[in-house]
Amino acid sequence: MQRLSQDKINEIRQSVDIVDILGQYLSLTKKGRNYVAICPFHEDNNPSLSISPERQIYKCFVCGNGGNVFTFLQNYLKISYIEAVKKIAEMGRIDLSDYQLDEKKAPIKKEYVALYSMNEEACKIYNYYLNTKLGLEAKNYLKKRHFSDEVIEKFSIGYAPIDSILYKSFEKKYTEIDMVKSGLVIESKHHFDRFNDRIMFPLHNSEGKIVGFSGRIYKTTQTDSKYMNSPESQIFIKGETLYNYHRCREAVRKEGFVYLLEGFMDVIAMDKAGIENAVALMGTALTRDHIRMLKRLTSTIHICLDGDRAGQVAASKAADILLEANFNVKIILLPDNHDPDEIYEEHGKEGLMTLLKKTLSPIEFLMEFKYKEIDAGNYDDRKHFLEQMCELISRIKDELDKDYYIQRLSKLSGFSATIIEQKLSGIKPKEIPVYHEVRRVKEMVDKYRGAEKELLFYMLNSKEVALKYEAKVGFMYDDNYRVIASYIVDYYRTHDKLVIADFINRLPKEELIQTVIDISELQLPLPYDEKAIQHYMKNISLNARKMKKEQLLEQFHYVLDPYKQSEILKEIIELEKE
Ligand code: UTP
Ligand code: MN
Repeated sequence: MQRLSQDKINEIRQSVDIVDILGQYLSLTKKGRNYVAICPFHEDNNPSLSISPERQIYKCFVCGNGGNVFTFLQNYLKISYIEAVKKIAEMGRIDLSDYQLDEKKAPIKKEYVALYSMNEEACKIYNYYLNTKLGLEAKNYLKKRHFSDEVIEKFSIGYAPIDSILYKSFEKKYTEIDMVKSGLVIESKHHFDRFNDRIMFPLHNSEGKIVGFSGRIYKTTQTDSKYMNSPESQIFIKGETLYNYHRCREAVRKEGFVYLLEGFMDVIAMDKAGIENAVALMGTALTRDHIRMLKRLTSTIHICLDGDRAGQVAASKAADILLEANFNVKIILLPDNHDPDEIYEEHGKEGLMTLLKKTLSPIEFLMEFKYKEIDAGNYDDRKHFLEQMCELISRIKDELDKDYYIQRLSKLSGFSATIIEQKLSGIKPKEIPVYHEVRRVKEMVDKYRGAEKELLFYMLNSKEVALKYEAKVGFMYDDNYRVIASYIVDYYRTHDKLVIADFINRLPKEELIQTVIDISELQLPLPYDEKAIQHYMKNISLNARKMKKEQLLEQFHYVLDPYKQSEILKEIIELEKE
């Protein structure tokens, strides 16, 4: 088996035409030498996506998404890079059967191998016991809750009997230290299994590897906490775990959004109702890592948390964070403190579907939520409520939306729409203070970055310029530009001309691809003027390190974490050495 080389990947790319590929998904119109289309990556009204058959790249002038055929499929179908390469190879009829097509994932750290395989084995063992005599009562509990055999299999649900079966099976293969590290085995006077007499639900990481379990009690005689989870370990971090994340991608793509739920039982209930685009938090609040994971999935989230007060508080917090992260957010409040599982049990698939369609925008949700918190019989409370809501509404830009919320607020609060409008006209839009000093520095930096950007443009277009940069400058202030520059220099070691659509395959981050496409679109005179290049290089080599150092020093002052501080110091020292 050979590994896929860059040359092979390039051959695959060249086996198709970007116009044909994008044409399968978008409606293209010829415009001059290029084609244009409605951009599928943002809400586009005019065709802003431009496709260049000459350069085999595409670029949206509004949202900035751009790249080659691989990038397009990755973004459009929400698939991995290697999956995109495979798809294009299929379309281009390139046989890859002799190639090893591993995902370009970070290799598993050696020390984690045992942890992953213990969890994997544990799952198989638990699955087995659910179908034995020991697991009979557990299985009956699941039946009572309408878990079909398919559902049990799909979610790999199992049963942990009482007598330390895992420890007995692991004893010959793993060290006791690793067993304890995995959280599946506990050490006190002797070693024994953490999970006893519970129904077991495996938890997966974003790549679909089992990293832990949640075990539920199922008998009225059991008085322990309802769920017991694996403790956090090197491979199981709750703040980075979303139940069902690895399974929902296809459904999310189809539906265009994901449901964010409170409990994993709710994800399973939704699945019973045929709804597969759902994930659940593992009993924690939404973290930055969750947000990053969700970003990779979709930009639209329907939050559906229990209708009780705690659920609503959680919903409003989650909505806040998600809005800040630029997601489109809708909120669903289920009635009578029910969760999706209970709704499904009581009202079936149709009942659940009907309720899920009742989405609120974050402002509507806040209105209803805050209104329930006040004493509606008290005039002062109502007045205060009105003022708070006017503040919210005043931030809405769209006139129609604004009118809609005014009507709603009027209905809810009993104040007339006229008086609300009057109030709104008295609220000045908040001014954002402009600090001239900051702006001046920022302008300087922008101008300077412009020089780095323009030099990069010429490096993309000329090996000579890239070699000059390597010999005389070798450093850029902007972190992304610096990385790109080093990749360009590297590329020219084996090529004399740089082909953008080929080059971007090497870049390790989507952000870098977008930046390179942007830079390659600059309208600068070619061939390059030697004087201009000298000017850029002088400017950059004089300032890049100095500015980088200043930036690091500034960071050093506001970073509180001593570990980060020492990292920054290290970087500063490195800079001074060179
Ligand atoms: P819920 O109490 O809402 O559970 O907890 P549920 O999803 O309705 O489960 P059923 O229907 O009673 O079986 C929501 C989430 O909080 C965490 C779990 O991750 C659960 O999915 N939790 C709850 C625990 O970790 N431990 C507990 O004891 C309870
Ligand atoms: Mn429940």
